[in-house]
Amino acid sequence: MSALLCDSRIRLARRTHSRDANAFVTMTPDATPSIHIPVLMREVLRGLELSAGLTVVDGTFGGGGHARKILEAIGPTGRLIGLDRDLDAIQRAHASPLPENLTVKQASYSELPAILTALQIESVDRILVDLGFSSDQLGTLSRGFGFLSESLLDLRFDYTQGVPAWQLLQSAPEPELRSIFDEFGEEPAARKLAAAIVAQRSQMQMISAKRFAEFVAATIGTSGSRERHPATRAFQALRIAVNRELEHLKTALEQSFPQALKAGGILAVITFHSLEDRLVKDAFKESDVWENLTPKPIGPTPAEERFNPRSRSAKLRLARRKP
Ligand SMILES: C[S@@+](CC[C@H](N)C(=O)[O-])C[C@H]1O[C@@H](n2cnc3c(N)ncnc32)[C@H](O)[C@@H]1O
Repeated sequence: MSALLCDSRIRLARRTHSRDANAFVTMTPDATPSIHIPVLMREVLRGLELSAGLTVVDGTFGGGGHARKILEAIGPTGRLIGLDRDLDAIQRAHASPLPENLTVKQASYSELPAILTALQIESVDRILVDLGFSSDQLGTLSRGFGFLSESLLDLRFDYTQGVPAWQLLQSAPEPELRSIFDEFGEEPAARKLAAAIVAQRSQMQMISAKRFAEFVAATIGTSGSRERHPATRAFQALRIAVNRELEHLKTALEQSFPQALKAGGILAVITFHSLEDRLVKDAFKESDVWENLTPKPIGPTPAEERFNPRSRSAKLRLARRKP
């Protein structure tokens, strides 16, 4: 994209902003707007019982879709703190001026108490986390999230820290790779896949996402669900491993969220696979901290599933912080 076009898009975003104090536009690093479609929007807004003046945390800001609607609901007297581990998401948010009552920072939601202390906020009324990855991450081929990406198989949300997936494939002992594919991907062919990687990894240095997807398909075969790429489980497993996703969620559910949320405040968590959902379900069950507001998780309507197929596996659970 030319610098001129880039610049004019940013100016357009600024003009949009100046018409409405609560509106903001998030842009990709090349200044194109976010393509992520937020899931379960109506259910989240209703479940959070939003009203004017509340202080809310969106712990997984992404393309700012949920954040935009939350800001509308809490109005100019409310305050929203948006966090994301992904620097691209943060830079996209700052590509246009933000409303005064919105703060967007690069951090994990599991670090929430420290972030609030730095902002001199004692506690908050509502917290939302919408887990997993965004369509912006999937669609940015240089991030190596998609099966067709010719970029390095990276899969980190925060690409400034930790070890990318291609490097993990080179260094992890076979039992570790096997348990990653087994536990985080629930991949039935975990043993076969780990053994094939270890046998062939000297020829798989700095592997691209596309080549790894082809390698997985060739190793474990393409049978099974026709709807899913054969590498879906392997990619999920590596993404969970390199981002330590379950550790962040566990810390947040046990420590960060109870500490940050006021008594009577509401936590909303959207999950996309059973490993995450189990952690949330167990945390809310018979707890001294949480009053479970959703004995059964809330899923998308058939209309939302048709409009946004990504919503199919989404589950929303809500809990109120006990005094
Ligand atoms: C499904 S998207 C969120 C989309 C967002 N709700 C929207 O409406 O645009 C998930 C986002 O969570 C971020 N993320 C994942 N784990 C995180 C963590 N521990 N802390 C903060 N952000 C995280 C990812 O980088 C990604 O941008």
